[in-house]
Amino acid sequence: MNLPSKVKLVDVGPRDGLQNEKTPVPAAVKIELVHRLQDAGLSEIEVASFVSPKWVPQMADNAEVMAGIRRLPGVRYSVLTPNLQGLEAALKPARALWPDEIVVFGAASEAFSQRNINCSIAESIERFRPVAASARANNIYVRGAISCTVGCPYEGEIAPERVAMVAGLMKDIGVQHIGVADTIGVGTPRKVQRALEAALRHYDLDGVSGHFHDTYGMALANTLAALQMGVWQFDASVAGLGGCPYAKGATGNVATEDMVYLLNGMDIDTGIDLDKLVDAGQFISNFLGRPPGSRAATALLNKRIN
Ligand code: HMG
Ligand code: MG
Repeated sequence: MNLPSKVKLVDVGPRDGLQNEKTPVPAAVKIELVHRLQDAGLSEIEVASFVSPKWVPQMADNAEVMAGIRRLPGVRYSVLTPNLQGLEAALKPARALWPDEIVVFGAASEAFSQRNINCSIAESIERFRPVAASARANNIYVRGAISCTVGCPYEGEIAPERVAMVAGLMKDIGVQHIGVADTIGVGTPRKVQRALEAALRHYDLDGVSGHFHDTYGMALANTLAALQMGVWQFDASVAGLGGCPYAKGATGNVATEDMVYLLNGMDIDTGIDLDKLVDAGQFISNFLGRPPGSRAATALLNKRIN
């Protein structure tokens, strides 16, 4: 087995998690969540998205959240920017408030691309081209996310060739890293490996990460399969928050607490303090009025009581 000795986890809870919440979450709560995540040792946090507030009203306070964060050295703060308008909004305030990394997000499915960002895959690449160029000219790291790399809520199963095609297009326009997303959590280990292999045709191991939603409870198994390939970067969401507004029925990302528990047990270093992370998950879950969607957090919280 080719297991990495350390893993970088990006907590996408403030963005992927909270973009789908029916309960309005005030900016102050989002900021507190980011603070708790960084205090727990997360080295990258996906804070917000600069998308249309008509499409995703939950992210309308993006600038306020970015401005309210007490930044820690060594922590990378990323935001989603689907077009130049989004990038310009993210770069409008003083440089100290800029994101360190932006994410352009496309899909391996035409139907999902249309529903999520209102354009075809080819059009999305043309929208991303100036975003990537401008971000890189400003020394901002450019990550790409590819949705529906295994299955799509509208098109069903997606062939790995589609993933390779989009990864290649993203590479051509200067995207530096590809997140392979199982948006609706239908993947199983071999299928996810094939999607990752497709991205690895264009990017090296340091340039590929896994972003697994946990709808069918497969995300940890898929993570192990990715680790066996040497993939060492993953997105996860504290308390398993989230879903995508344009992927009906899909649940949140794999819980960050469950990922840390898995990796701790395999002696793979994440730099994350699991107890503090559980507290961060409890903080946001208390606000939302439900228990954390993490099996490990639930077990650890029960242990604290007993
Ligand atoms: P559009 O309608 O094609 O854009 O939307 P447009 O350029 O024609 O503009 C139409 C209106 O939107 C105009 O406003 C623009 O100002 C406004 P109006 O004149 O009607 O008042 N607009 C914007 N406003 C703020 N920020 C912007 C922006 N762009 C245009 N950046 C757009 C295209 C992409 C904006 C739209 O489709 C959108 O916002 N979609 C939301 C996509 C989204 O946030 N989805 C969830 C995140 S992706 C995800 O969760 C998947 C991921 O986790 C990986 C995985 O799991 O698969 C990453
Ligand atoms: Mg997602």
